[in-house]
Amino acid sequence: MARVEQIVLTVALGLAVVCAAAPAPAPAAATAESTLASIPSSQFVYHPTTPALNTAVSGGGSSSQRLLAQWPALKGTGISQTAFNLNPCSLRPPHTHPYASGLLYATSANNLQVGFVMADGTSEPVVNNITTGASALFPQGLIHYQLNLDCQPASYTISYSSEEPETQTVVNGLLGLPRPALQAALGFSSGDFDLWQAQAPTSKFIQVADADCAARCGLSSNATVISFSTHN
Ligand SMILES: *[C@@H]1O[C@H](CO)[C@@H](O)[C@H](O)[C@H]1NC(C)=O
Ligand SMILES: *[C@@H]1O[C@H](CO)[C@@H](O)[C@H](O)[C@H]1NC(C)=O
Repeated sequence: MARVEQIVLTVALGLAVVCAAAPAPAPAAATAESTLASIPSSQFVYHPTTPALNTAVSGGGSSSQRLLAQWPALKGTGISQTAFNLNPCSLRPPHTHPYASGLLYATSANNLQVGFVMADGTSEPVVNNITTGASALFPQGLIHYQLNLDCQPASYTISYSSEEPETQTVVNGLLGLPRPALQAALGFSSGDFDLWQAQAPTSKFIQVADADCAARCGLSSNATVISFSTHN
């Protein structure tokens, strides 16, 4: 009797030790074979044949999303992708992806600036210029941007660690807040806030956004679109 109890205790202790030492379980189960088998083969590839549905084009560039909404076969995989073209001296303005990190691959770039800020907002920004073949990481949730500092267009893809990374553009997000809170947070006078609110760029890309680049490439710059000087 005592002996049986001892064996049970020993086995239990042994199991407890094994369990404590076991590695953490895999974060997500692989997509079930049966689920994969139910997807027609043609749906494992994505062809951007209907650009009007998912392609954003503005003066500064264009993007083509391959997220869950556009590509249902991604369901359960935890990944997605967007392809970008960014025109000379143009900016993909600061934004965040609340649900995903992003991994950029430069398919064609002579001087593509990629930058982000840490969550504490006080550390030095992380800013690098990259060229064709380089990759760049944007950690989940951090505010980041891409700026093409070359006179030729740049193209790149960004893969996300979620089928639905969601995108919150900083300026557009701020403009969605109630005015008293935002105006006080920005430290604007009422008149300056009116000017900023009426003219803040909210497009997905900003054309010829860098003044030095514009001068270098012989383009007319609209880096500064809001002028407070006429107002007092
Ligand atoms: C990126 O390139 C621009 C334009 O050539 C240059 O002014 C800037 O110093 C570079 N920045 C970094 C971080 O290398
Ligand atoms: C910048 O300038 C171009 C060309 O002059 C114009 O088409 C564009 O709308 C301007 N603004 C932005 C935000 O790109």
